Amino acid sequence: MKIRKSTKYRNSTKTARPDNASMTWMLRYVAPVKGRMATLMALLLVTTACQLINPQIVQHFIDASASDGPVSDLIKLAGLFLGIAVLNQLVTVAVSYLGNDVAWRATNQLRADLLGHLLRLDMRFHNLKTPGEMIERVDGDVTNMSNFFAMFIVQIVGSFILLAGILGVMFTKNWGIATVMSAFTILAIGVMMFIRNLGVASSQTERQATAMLFGLIEERIAGIEDVQANGAVPYVMNRFFRAMKSVFQTGRKAWMMRVIPWNATVLLFTFAVTTVLLMGVHLYLKHAITLGTLYLFFQYTQMLNDPIEQLGNQMQDFQRAKSGMRRSRELLALKSEIEPGTKDSLPHGALSIRFHHVNFSYNEDERVLHDIDFHLHPGERLGIIGRTGSGKSSISRLLLRLYNVDEGVIEVGGVDIRELKLEALYRRVGMVTQDVQLFDGSLRDNLTLFNPRVCDDEILAITENVGLRPWIDALPEGLDTHLAAGGTSLSAGEAQLFALTRVFLTRPSLVVLDEPSSRLDPATEATLTRAMDQLLTECTGIIIAHRLMTLETVDKIMVLSHGQIVEFGLREVLAADPESHYAGLLRTDRQEEFA
Ligand SMILES: Nc1ncnc2c1ncn2[C@@H]1O[C@H](COP(=O)(O)OP(=O)(O)O)[C@@H](O)[C@H]1O
Ligand SMILES: [Mg+2]
Repeated sequence: MKIRKSTKYRNSTKTARPDNASMTWMLRYVAPVKGRMATLMALLLVTTACQLINPQIVQHFIDASASDGPVSDLIKLAGLFLGIAVLNQLVTVAVSYLGNDVAWRATNQLRADLLGHLLRLDMRFHNLKTPGEMIERVDGDVTNMSNFFAMFIVQIVGSFILLAGILGVMFTKNWGIATVMSAFTILAIGVMMFIRNLGVASSQTERQATAMLFGLIEERIAGIEDVQANGAVPYVMNRFFRAMKSVFQTGRKAWMMRVIPWNATVLLFTFAVTTVLLMGVHLYLKHAITLGTLYLFFQYTQMLNDPIEQLGNQMQDFQRAKSGMRRSRELLALKSEIEPGTKDSLPHGALSIRFHHVNFSYNEDERVLHDIDFHLHPGERLGIIGRTGSGKSSISRLLLRLYNVDEGVIEVGGVDIRELKLEALYRRVGMVTQDVQLFDGSLRDNLTLFNPRVCDDEILAITENVGLRPWIDALPEGLDTHLAAGGTSLSAGEAQLFALTRVFLTRPSLVVLDEPSSRLDPATEATLTRAMDQLLTECTGIIIAHRLMTLETVDKIMVLSHGQIVEFGLREVLAADPESHYAGLLRTDRQEEFA
């Protein structure tokens, strides 16, 4: 469990940026799809034209039939109407296809950037964040933006063009009515913008309540074993009901606040239609306009509703997209404290290790390692012992550069690890920790970590060594057996053997084994100790162990206490010196001290 938390990332949400910077940032993701966007725009103009033309055809049709025009003219008009209606439908389908296509292309790049960035951020950051929160960042925020990418341009621009088209045509027909319609349009948009903000605060509370509910479910399902075993299901349900109640109450309020503005515009719209109709009928009765033109006025007024509503919706989406964008940019702006170096190569064969007066702390207030200073020659094996919390695992994390040291230098193969590219380090250095993570995939994929270049013979040879082979042979599908993520399909001991195989398949030149046998029974442990002996012949090894028996084959011993080296030396020398800590431990054999 990680209880203490670093303060480095706490206030990161306060670094908001101005919106126009957001826009240029967004353009980076939109730029690769600009060709498609242009096509989208062109198609949009076509549908707008179709929508504007058809009511005019109907207008002519009505006038022609009212004045007993020739039937052939009517048939032509009907045919034209049909043709344009079909064209409009086809183009509409194309627009929505292209719109989604553009949105996915643009936002998938962003998703990839976010996930890639997250995976490279240092452990101090990850210690502070839950997986649920990160999923929300990589997918939730981006999905909010994707609706925006897809439809914003299409609908905002489309709506404006349509509105301008309708009003423009109206002004050529009748100034008075066109003025009434324009006034209504401006008023409706204004009212909508003004009252839409009403719902923002309550929608935010609603989202918070929902996030709480999901957090609760995620946490309790993750701990299902403890929940069931302790008979805590009724308590969990009780908390769940309370969370649901809050979702319901905040949801109802938010819904009300969203519905009020919508109803207000509907009301406003009804007034507009009535006014236009009254004016139109008045003009018609004075014979100032034809029946067809009256129809056109009516139809165009009806058509005003859609673009206005869409503009309103887009404003809301825009708000959401803006907050998504802000959060994504904040995340991308976070720098990992682990800056890779430039050196790409380490000496061949087993690697030496040198710690030069290393001090380290996870957070400012408490130093975990004090002045750690030691040296291992290539091929040597070091056993580290010390009580829980004495800093053993911290040493291994530093060696793999999961954290930077506060002071001092760590050299691997004679190279300061800060000067190395991270890949160069990870290619040659392997680590087995106490927690083994399984991934959803076949047994082979889990052992090779999805590297298809590792052949089966190699896998089987190593599993043979660590004593996992009988277990694999007993599986009906062997290496093809599917493993579920999370590791519930393996016992803790099997998982440790599994992790060892995984590391040795990468043919490391330096291996850190962090309590590799803590969950094994004595018989399996003996097999494993023999296996490690063979596997470690070609590399330098650090073995952290809580049972002295595991360390019988190491060359050197380090005894740690409260983050300090209290003893370091050749195992045989220390064992022979009755004054040494190690000899004392061997004598009393108080293994449980290190459990
Ligand atoms: N991620 C972390 N954040 C803050 N403190 C930590 C973290 N991991 C370990 N510590 C603290 O560092 C000290 C050494 O831990 P660790 O190296 O894991 O000990 P060991 O492996 O010897 O049991 C302990 O006091 C522990 O509480
Ligand atoms: Mg540990």
